[in-house]
Amino acid sequence: MKNIDSFNHVRGESRYLDDIPLIQGTLFGVALGASVAHGIIKKLDLSEALALEGIVRIFTDKDITGENQIGGIVPDEPLLADHHVHFSGMPIAFVVAETEEIAREALKKIKVEIEALPVITDPREAQAKGELIVPPRTFRIGDTDAAWQDCAYVFEGKADTNGQEHLYIETQGAYAVPLENGVIKVYSSTQGPTAVQRAVCKVLGVPMHQIEVDVTRLGGGFGGKEDQANTWAALCALATHVLKKPVKYSLHRMEDMAMTGKRHPYSTDFKIGLSRELKILAYEATFFQNAGAAADLSPAVLERTLFHSVNTYFIPNVRVTGNSCRTNLPPNTAFRGFGGPQGMFVIEAAIVKAAESIGVEAAQIQRINLNKTGDEFHYGQIAQSESQACWEKALEIYGFDQMKEAVGAFNKANLLHKKGLALMPVCFGISFTNTMMNHARSLVHVYSDGSVNVSTGAVEMGQGVNTKILQVAAQVFSLNADKIRINSTNTFRIANTSPSAASATADLNGKATLIACTEILKRLKKVASDELKIDAKEIELKNELVLAGGAETGLDWKRLVALAFMKRVALSEHGHYATPEIHFDKTKEKGHPFAYHVYGTAITEVTIDCLRGTYEVDAVKVVHDFGTSMNPVIDKGQIEGGIVQGIGWMTLEELIYDKEGKLKSNALSTYKVPDIYAVPKKIEIDFLQTEQDNLAIFRSKAVGEPPLMYGIGAYFALRNAVKAFNPAAELPFDAPMTAEKVLLGLYAGKY
Ligand code: MTE
Ligand code: HPA
Ligand code: MOS
Repeated sequence: MKNIDSFNHVRGESRYLDDIPLIQGTLFGVALGASVAHGIIKKLDLSEALALEGIVRIFTDKDITGENQIGGIVPDEPLLADHHVHFSGMPIAFVVAETEEIAREALKKIKVEIEALPVITDPREAQAKGELIVPPRTFRIGDTDAAWQDCAYVFEGKADTNGQEHLYIETQGAYAVPLENGVIKVYSSTQGPTAVQRAVCKVLGVPMHQIEVDVTRLGGGFGGKEDQANTWAALCALATHVLKKPVKYSLHRMEDMAMTGKRHPYSTDFKIGLSRELKILAYEATFFQNAGAAADLSPAVLERTLFHSVNTYFIPNVRVTGNSCRTNLPPNTAFRGFGGPQGMFVIEAAIVKAAESIGVEAAQIQRINLNKTGDEFHYGQIAQSESQACWEKALEIYGFDQMKEAVGAFNKANLLHKKGLALMPVCFGISFTNTMMNHARSLVHVYSDGSVNVSTGAVEMGQGVNTKILQVAAQVFSLNADKIRINSTNTFRIANTSPSAASATADLNGKATLIACTEILKRLKKVASDELKIDAKEIELKNELVLAGGAETGLDWKRLVALAFMKRVALSEHGHYATPEIHFDKTKEKGHPFAYHVYGTAITEVTIDCLRGTYEVDAVKVVHDFGTSMNPVIDKGQIEGGIVQGIGWMTLEELIYDKEGKLKSNALSTYKVPDIYAVPKKIEIDFLQTEQDNLAIFRSKAVGEPPLMYGIGAYFALRNAVKAFNPAAELPFDAPMTAEKVLLGLYAGKY
């Protein structure tokens, strides 16, 4: 089944925040961001700005009617700076005017004097100065201290990854509209309608039933709108609350890039020990996460880094420690993979370091150490593993040995172009690591004409979750897709939602929908059974017909629904689902946090130009563990998108903050994202089809985030290509591998 949005998308008819028709009298807001990254506001002079014709009001922290606080996990983030600014771009004031042009004009007329304080941009420096967001955490299994003695090889090193701009096509924004009795309806481009509702309520000082948040869809979120849509919604709602007028703010791209947090850069020390047979016996890592100026989701992101720090390998002795370090960058936040990719990069770097030092291929070490069903992860969960199955299938169906030979032959025959190959196995846990977040609800209405309307907490952001939820309802009722509508996500219809994140949206909201539809179906079968005087067990609904013992009964869906309505049977249901089996004890750092894991292996081949340092990704060939995909078209799209986004993070995308904490790569002219030329020439995706019982919806495993980590393979393939040209090059593990770094590596130590 095609994505139900594709028809409207290609016609330009899909609605995003900026497509909502404005109500007469709508005002326009723009936030003033701090021009320095750290300092004390000495003077804030609004007079000239306020004198402009068409200016309605300028809000500062003094105007906040509730609490000046939007921190989600730790209450450490003011909505508007009080006298202290902590990052460049931090909102100081919110200008509201009759037009957007006037509001932007006024911004330039606000006079701010900030006394600069020392700026920290480096997480190791922050840690050394005791600037931690939360106390460090350590996950461990076995006894690493004792294990080093048994190792034939021990290697230490450092591995760094840079951040990543989300670059959702639709920038952040919100539109707040006053309703009666002080209720405010907030249209928000958010992955977390309830997070927006909570933030607005706190800032305004009103109860949650006063705030209706509505989301039709996002033009991409990628984690960037899990928490960070709150700011703009709270600013607009505050203005609406005070002025009793609709207020809209839709960020310009450069504002969005400068003011919002991104994927966390990490710097990490590692130590790896192996036996003579290349079994990894011990692994240690100390992560320094660059959290930015406020906690945001950083502690949760760091937790997932610790969970995924050994990727898909079984290692009997592990000790990994995470430091969430407070710097003066915009608060970094969720980004596809949620800290997992940063953890996996380091273990892959450690394996490559070991392989290069011992003189074997990294793939040899990877293969020997893949986990198996029954192995214990360092956090206590027992693996139900598809790791080896994916790896072996990839090697076989893509002819890895022949690929290797061909690359070797190419490199022998060519001086100025070199190819590199790398394997990237992935294992990603599905569930919010915070157990309490793993629940969802669905409200299903069957109308008296037989049409169906479904509301859930799921936010459609391009990942196709609405299509999957529609498929669930269609399958349970055995209805055509055109009988079913998926509603906007709305906090007055569905309460207390978890954000659409952690790749778990379809599982959680799909299961809730399954529960609601199954309950209604049960009632309908009872109605049919009474009407036909046939045992309900014999009744089956198929292709909109009511069958009894497999034979037609003359009753169809429409008539059955009408009959049920006349008999005053409830045709609506609110289903609730909470993931069973999961638990985690933070005092021991042990438990069973994930409903299941998703596995896969990618083979990446690249070619570099040894004069220019430029490169192309020839192919990414994947065997991915889908379980039993309920929508192969959407799932393949997620994998392709994830791969390209992961390659971007690992190769092209270079976030640059200067020492003063100002973003230099603040537009698409200076921040390079993958375009069509950077996309692998070939992407092949094969299914590892499994029938194993799992907690995925219809056994169709979550697919949103895991493929991003295949992109890590591109980094190591490039490294191998550089080594093919310059075997003696000492290359640091420092992603992204930009063309500049490739060029430096090609000639490192040569001149
Ligand atoms: N795909 C598209 N097209 N747009 C997005 O914003 N977000 C990713 C992934 N795929 C995203 C996407 C992220 S970060 C997550 S967590 C999942 O989708 C969320 O949706 P799911 O839980 O339905 O997989
Ligand atoms: N993944 C994604 N988003 C989240 C998580 C998680 O594990 N926990 C809280 N928000
Ligand atoms: Mo995705 S980073 O969990 O929104």
